[in-house]
Amino acid sequence: MIIEPRMRGFICLTAHPDGCEQNIKNQIEYIKSKGAINGAKKVLVIGASTGFGLASRISSAFGSNAATIGVFFEKPPTEGRTASPGWYNSAAFEKEAHKAGLYAKSINGDAFSNEIKKQTLDLIKADLGQVDLIIYSLASPVRMHPTTGILHRSVLKPIGGTFTNKTVDFHSGKVSEISIEPSSGDDIENTVAVMGGEDWKMWIDALKAENLLAPGATTVAYSYIGPSLTEAVYRKGTIGRAKDDLEATAFTITDSLADIDGKAYVSVNKALVTQASSAIPVIPLYISLLYKIMKEEGIHEGCIEQIQRLYADRLFSGKEIPTDEKGRIRVDDWEMRPDVQEKIAKLWQEATTENLADLGDLEGYRSDFHNLFGFGFAGVDYKAEANEMVGVESIA
Ligand code: NAD
Ligand code: NA
Repeated sequence: MIIEPRMRGFICLTAHPDGCEQNIKNQIEYIKSKGAINGAKKVLVIGASTGFGLASRISSAFGSNAATIGVFFEKPPTEGRTASPGWYNSAAFEKEAHKAGLYAKSINGDAFSNEIKKQTLDLIKADLGQVDLIIYSLASPVRMHPTTGILHRSVLKPIGGTFTNKTVDFHSGKVSEISIEPSSGDDIENTVAVMGGEDWKMWIDALKAENLLAPGATTVAYSYIGPSLTEAVYRKGTIGRAKDDLEATAFTITDSLADIDGKAYVSVNKALVTQASSAIPVIPLYISLLYKIMKEEGIHEGCIEQIQRLYADRLFSGKEIPTDEKGRIRVDDWEMRPDVQEKIAKLWQEATTENLADLGDLEGYRSDFHNLFGFGFAGVDYKAEANEMVGVESIA
């Protein structure tokens, strides 16, 4: 089958297996080019198939020769329909890891469920004995609570009042004003239930109860802060409450790991184009301006550059891990530089449909978005037949 991008709203319905493979190879090459990282050797990545979690898996495997188990929720290919990109990414990752002689196995299913946790624990027990690093990188709109059976849906809404600001449809480039109604009812509780820290703690509790955490084990979850421009819809909105909860959970987990000298951290990462962030109103406009400025300053990073820096300069530098006044690791430091933010605030005022292609990096946004689905990579022949059934056997 010849596979082309088929866009619908904020998602692409198709994914290209060879392009996803090229994406994995590029990220592996980047990690190798930066040299060895003296990091963890047995790593569990929850949310391992795309975005920051995928970059973490690649950084551990190809930076530290780590054995990795990846958990994710992706669609395998079916007759006439491509897989989701995370499926192809994971198939390609496993292929490259195995070629390099590295242990790599994956579990595809709902990480919030007891069943997938048990499967993962059994696999660690059988194959690795213990893990010394657990990356928690889930981004999901829903969570079926494993004990209450309630299906929680997260929402992206401001709290307390309607938020009106500019946004962009990054496909068409049209800048418009958007109003988002404030949260109501159980919106906050539901969003915290999905994207807060409860499930992270459940994973760590379950691993610890079965003695699957190595002495000194570290766990890291990812968070975001961002500028005042996006505060109403992000950090001070419903999703921000979930991130507050996630960040507070790091301390609870660290307390619970005192006897094995384990530690939980939150790393605050930079805003990037991922499937998760493309769906948040206002953020795409911010990201297109951010990319422009950061590229001009020579400080732009993608997921793989962010995680390489997180590992090499923060987590595994051999020095004390630097944190902010709230105990968080910050690799959003370049995004949040005052000079960068001042420039964005100014461009934000000026941005219109007519000038955004010049003021912002709309091209960079679109190109990153296409890349998420395996499209637009140099070295891939998109006119050729693609094998969309690739990877079906490697991930059971
Ligand atoms: P992503 O959409 O690229 O990745 C999400 C991952 O979670 C995928 O591997 C997916 O398969 C997995 N997943 C989703 N639901 C699942 C389920 N029920 N069971 C198992 N796996 C499931 O998202 P991302 O942007 O890499 O986000 C990861 C984390 O990083 C999130 O906590 C996000 O808030 C945070 N973060 C994102 C940004 C950004 O700009 N994208 C910035 C800072 C922090
Ligand atoms: Na991820």
